[in-house]
Amino acid sequence: RWAAATGDRKVLLAGPRSFCAGVERAVEIVERLLRRHDPPIYVRKQIVHNSRVVGELEQRGAVFVDELDEVPENATVVFSAHGVSPAVRDAAKQRNLDVVDATCPLVSKVHGEARRFARDGDTVFLIGHAGHEEVEGTLGEAPERTVLVQSADEVADIEVENPERVSYLMQTTLALDEAEGVAKALRERFPALRGPGSEDICYATTNRQDAVRVVARESDVVLVAGSANSSNSRRLVEVAQREGAEAHLVDNVHEIDIDWLAGARTVGLSAGASAPTVLVDEIVDALSGLGAVDVSERTTATETVNFSLPKEVRHR
Ligand code: F3S
Repeated sequence: RWAAATGDRKVLLAGPRSFCAGVERAVEIVERLLRRHDPPIYVRKQIVHNSRVVGELEQRGAVFVDELDEVPENATVVFSAHGVSPAVRDAAKQRNLDVVDATCPLVSKVHGEARRFARDGDTVFLIGHAGHEEVEGTLGEAPERTVLVQSADEVADIEVENPERVSYLMQTTLALDEAEGVAKALRERFPALRGPGSEDICYATTNRQDAVRVVARESDVVLVAGSANSSNSRRLVEVAQREGAEAHLVDNVHEIDIDWLAGARTVGLSAGASAPTVLVDEIVDALSGLGAVDVSERTTATETVNFSLPKEVRHR
């Protein structure tokens, strides 16, 4: 097995890959709080969906909790990049918690749209995956007016109060092509359907999918660094697979199965928006251990997005 997996290889990096501006900001918020205050700093849910990031912050004194009742009254708590429902904000107020909100501004934008549509009296279809924290937060803006739609197949069975007053929103990290398919099915069933002012699927999701698609076409196997609970990372694997490449999600270098590399001369490599670049470096190093690697990059977009920090941590 090892012999078959050893040999010279081309590694094709998908660009952009790894951290987006929302993740950079969320991690920076927790890091600044840890520098400024004595631990613990409480964080509701994983700050971003990546085990390496969470593990490192934990070692430095961050305490990740599932719900706010695990946070002592008056303590500081960070809301994760995925956003929270108004009910969670209320609960934080009731417990007198000092909230620092690391919700990605592009998730907040979707929350704003949910409030606006619901205020107009619409039934709001949220295209997304059940159970994901972002979806739970967005649903919470208008729970009685929002319907989660997970696939085009579900559209036929949807019942609404008034088919003339319907709108849709999307989770920010979906596969663009799939989500558009669901939106199209909704539009066919409800011609009056209104959509968000601008795309809900964020620039980082779109760019990473475009890049991995290009890389997948040239690769025998594609590796995507990312954790299993990371929506955008999982979508990268699926997008690569739809291009006909074998593709695998790996949380770290140890999850690479040597069998995947047997006979693979060109290995595509990407990383989800929550996966740090160190994971990519480690994978390239591991591949170098099996033979000479020639690393090149396919860049399909250049990103300059940068979000300002919340006021609580802006000044050191
Ligand atoms: Fe925000 Fe998109 Fe990243 S919604 S957290 S910029 S993946």
